[in-house]
Amino acid sequence: MNRRPMVAGNWKMHGSRAANAALLDGVLAGLRARSGARASAEVVVCPPFVYLAEAAQRLAGSAVLLGAQDVCAESGQGAFTGEVAGSMLRDVGCSHVIVGHSERRALYGESDEWVARKTLAALAAGLTPIVCVGELLEERDAGRTHEVVGRQLAAVMAALRGSELGLTSLARCVLAYEPVWAIGTGRTATPEQAQDVHAYIRGRIVEGDATIGGSIRLLYGGSVKAGNARELFGMPDVDGGLIGGASLKAEEFVAIVAAAG
Ligand code: PGA
Repeated sequence: MNRRPMVAGNWKMHGSRAANAALLDGVLAGLRARSGARASAEVVVCPPFVYLAEAAQRLAGSAVLLGAQDVCAESGQGAFTGEVAGSMLRDVGCSHVIVGHSERRALYGESDEWVARKTLAALAAGLTPIVCVGELLEERDAGRTHEVVGRQLAAVMAALRGSELGLTSLARCVLAYEPVWAIGTGRTATPEQAQDVHAYIRGRIVEGDATIGGSIRLLYGGSVKAGNARELFGMPDVDGGLIGGASLKAEEFVAIVAAAG
């Protein structure tokens, strides 16, 4: 199965109008300079909500896609103070949204079921959800990595199955395996550790739908840098990366995109 790699930049709560303009211009120039080498990876950047519309304008006409970092679990409009609907994200030019990042799960109490509902809301709005799963260090040390990641994935698959979207809509999702102990710590999973979990995730999806299991993209996230991207992306079930810190430096991010393509 030939899966197109994806590299997505999760800017988290970083940036300003001026800094974003410089970063986006740097990424676009870097990708243009490389286009002779035909980078084939799909590239997504995910700035904070308030900067999305301006980022969309800056990216217009380029191949770089825009994503948000979160979405409301409710569809449409309504009395949900502080929330942003998937349809609004589409309205300002997003095609993607990160769902269930471990910081949302750990710091804002998002449960597996909540993440699953957000995945459905993103799909209903026509967005591609980048659904994050991953285990804590104590869970890995206790040998529970597959169990935890399997539980997080199962919640999303069950919600899809039980909705009118159906499990077939999983084909419109991207999954990101992000071991929590590797996020922002400089401690990357080894390529073998990443491959082990990616193969497990793909296997679980194949059990539900073999075609989707073969075609769905599984990104690795957690301290990916230009210096370690190539060996991670070289693993058979790693189809690119979700990049935090290193996505804030244009040159570094473009080098990671090059490693995927
Ligand atoms: P990091 O973050 O690359 O800074 O480790 C990854 C993420 O949280 O998506």
